[in-house]
Formats: sequence, structure tokens, C-alpha cells
Amino acid sequence: MRPIRIALTKGRLEEKTVEMLERIGYDCTSVREKGRKLIFPIGDGSLELVLAKAADVVTYVETGVCDMGVVGKDTIMEKGGTFYEIADLGFGKCRFALASVKGTDVYRGYHTRTIASKYMNVAKSFFESKNMDINLVKIEGSVELAPVLGLADAIVDIVETGTTLKENGLEVLEDICPVSARLIVNIASMKLRKAEIEEFIQKVEADVKNRG
Ligand code: PRP
Repeated sequence: MRPIRIALTKGRLEEKTVEMLERIGYDCTSVREKGRKLIFPIGDGSLELVLAKAADVVTYVETGVCDMGVVGKDTIMEKGGTFYEIADLGFGKCRFALASVKGTDVYRGYHTRTIASKYMNVAKSFFESKNMDINLVKIEGSVELAPVLGLADAIVDIVETGTTLKENGLEVLEDICPVSARLIVNIASMKLRKAEIEEFIQKVEADVKNRG
């Protein structure tokens, strides 16, 4: 049988996930000395780590080529998909927020507002919940530029420390929802590799509890 495969989000969540795996007893030397490799056996070889972009973590878990994944709630909300969301890992904490140039009121007046975001679905459903028609513009990164340059009235984006907003003269107008890293599991794997996956989940849950 192949090792249990875990897709891990490259970048911001990577270090915290590896730290968690080490705390629960897996030797992650191979990942720590990774170079440009993307797949790593860890621990005694019963587990394999796959490094992928956030949205691809969801794809790999959903299709079952990976049994589990660690990915932000932001990506889960934006991309959706069919899998079990098992645990809030308690790291990678940030929030979705509506933000703009200080003093902006996106609710005043009647003209249709332009909102820029990397998260089109999250932005769309936020304004739908307010029964508000908007023009949505997709921006791929550094979304804070959009209101500063005058492309959009406001943005829907991730805020972690708030530094990027502050240093660009923007502020949070409204919090949308909290975000953190989640453990997700493929639906078939949960049945077929039940014992191994449940053992892993228990270790993860104990670690989350320990961290309070
Ligand atoms: C995210 C987000 C903000 C920034 C917020 O961008 O889109 O720009 O982090 O963090 P802060 O509140 O701590 O300043 P990221 O760095 O992931 O890259 P991106 O701009 O390319 O999306």
C-alpha cells in the first residue's frame, strides 16, 4: 500500500505545518532540506508530504491523489469542494475583511460600487448577503493597490497583521470572517485508510488541544 499522502500548502502555512508534524512525532528532515523537490517521505515512510499551491491542495485531496491536506479556510471558502473538513489547526490565523481608503463608506449613495479581490466567490457572497449589486474585478495579488490607484472603491482581502493596509493608507471597513489553517480529508480515503487516518487525526487534535 502506498504511504498516506498529505498535501501541504507551500509558503505561509508550510513552516507551521512542518512544526506541527514534528511535534506529533514525524521526522521532517527531508522537507527541511528540500531544495526544489516537491514530494517527501517523512517519519518512518508511512507518510508522504506533497508541497502544492493552496487551491491545488484542495484539488489533490478532492480527487483522492492525496488523502489529506492542510489548507487555509480562505481557499476552502473560495474554491469549495467535496471533502471532510476535520480540524481547525489553530495557526495561519487571519481574517477576511472589507477594506479601503480611510473614511470610505461603501454603503452610502446609490451608484454601483467596484470591488477588487483575489477571492471572487467570497466577495460575491459577502455582497449578496447584503443584497448589494457590485462590479467585481479580479486582482491576482497586492490587491491593496486597487483602491489606492482608483480602480476600486474597496477590496475584499485577507488581513493578518494589518501592516499592508496601514502602510498603504487603507483601513478595515468591516470584518467578514476569521480564517485559519484546516485539515481536510478525502472522502474515500476516510473509509479505505480509516485506521491510519484516524490515528493521525487524533495526534493532530491532541496537539491543537495542547496549544490551547
Ligand atoms: C496577503 C494579503 C495582504 C497581506 C496581508 O497577501 O492579500 O496583501 O497578505 O497581510 P498583513 O495584514 O500582515 O499585512 P500575500 O502576502 O499572501 O500576497 P499577495 O499580495 O500576492 O496575495
